[in-house]
Amino acid sequence: MGSAPPWTFNRLETPYLEDPYPLYARARREAPVFHSPEFGLWFVTRYHDVWAVLKDTARFSSRFLMRTPADASPAVSETLQEAYPELPMLVNDDPPGHTRTRNLVSRAFAPRLVAALEPSIRTIVTRLVDGFADDGGADLIAELAYPVPIEIICTLIGLPAESRDQLKRWTDDLVTLGAPGTDDERRLACARGSVAFQRYLTAQIEARRDAPRDDLLTALINARADGDRPLDVAELVNLLIVLIFAGHETTTNLIGNLLVLLLARPEILRAIRDDPTLTEDVIAEGLRMDTPVQGMFRTTTEEVTLGGARIPAGAQVMVLFGSANRDEAVFSDPDRFDPGRGNNHRHLGFGHGIHACLGASLARLETRIILDTVAERLPNPKLDPGRPPTYAPSLMHRGPQGLHMVWS
Ligand code: HEM
Repeated sequence: MGSAPPWTFNRLETPYLEDPYPLYARARREAPVFHSPEFGLWFVTRYHDVWAVLKDTARFSSRFLMRTPADASPAVSETLQEAYPELPMLVNDDPPGHTRTRNLVSRAFAPRLVAALEPSIRTIVTRLVDGFADDGGADLIAELAYPVPIEIICTLIGLPAESRDQLKRWTDDLVTLGAPGTDDERRLACARGSVAFQRYLTAQIEARRDAPRDDLLTALINARADGDRPLDVAELVNLLIVLIFAGHETTTNLIGNLLVLLLARPEILRAIRDDPTLTEDVIAEGLRMDTPVQGMFRTTTEEVTLGGARIPAGAQVMVLFGSANRDEAVFSDPDRFDPGRGNNHRHLGFGHGIHACLGASLARLETRIILDTVAERLPNPKLDPGRPPTYAPSLMHRGPQGLHMVWS
């Protein structure tokens, strides 16, 4: 059995749903590693402890399989038999499987492919901003922060941009399929959607084999490591799903969180308009102050003592990046937004270690172009006072669901 007094973690209730940071600060002081009976999870809140967990992949496993729900009806199970066998997704895998896949993906995910996207990102952002700049107000999540990342991940992989709405529906199907409490009729629809998603990706892979292109999908198909076989179709489908998942909501949330921070600090928005070289530090500080991926899961492979607590073997653990990034032991005056603080790039917003985010440079590039364009094109932007941002009840992701802005 583990030891640590249980700690009441009402993170998804008001006021902590809107602002979890005072709750995290109290946990760092009172119970830096604690067990929450409500969530059935152990939470790790201090920077150095989070770092230690991320580095200790032997005792803190990332392994997790998306399985057919145990109570699924025969129709759902039968439908899912047409799907690829259950494989651990890159982010949910441990060495040595993770090392092999990551090595192949890193070869394909070349900085050249990301840098080459800059003109496409500018074109999309300009087209979208042209559509609403004269209206004096808009929901910048719906109009900009949501469509740009999903369209760009399609462009990077080499999928047609028109498929983005369909991809969104399919990724929602995958989430709903595994969610507790989904009724059987809905599950069956989601199972069919998930199979259709995999078939669509398989067709895209086959098309590239016949006619290679200059895109990430072709590069993934061709990726080779010494003495190793290439990725097979099931592995490729799996990877594409991870990239589509990882590549959009997270970036949408980063842009949303940064806009909320900057609308409250118009002098910083003006400063980046006058000197766009400041934007990188502003983005790093945004990732630190209001982290889009607030936490990730690990499972202990043996009993571990950490931060004064004894975590039992087989326990589900969440490392709270959102809390680590406000740890006063690393960031002085942590609740102050200060792009010039010098060490903001030490944030753990993209994780750290073997699972560190593969798409970090792409996410930063998209965010930079959007912030620069907003600073340049929308004069005196403000939050619409009648419609404050709202946040979905999630332990993992954080970002405004809508961002109604007005400008003059
Ligand atoms: C992993 C955050 C954008 C692809 C991660 C992890 C974090 C993260 C925290 C580590 C997960 C862990 O330790 O378990 C973010 C944030 C983003 C972002 C905050 C946007 C602001 C992207 C984009 C892509 C991407 C645009 C792809 C184009 C991935 C992949 C992994 C990953 C493939 C798994 C890597 C591995 O397990 O080896 N990301 N991400 N991410 N991210 Fe991102």
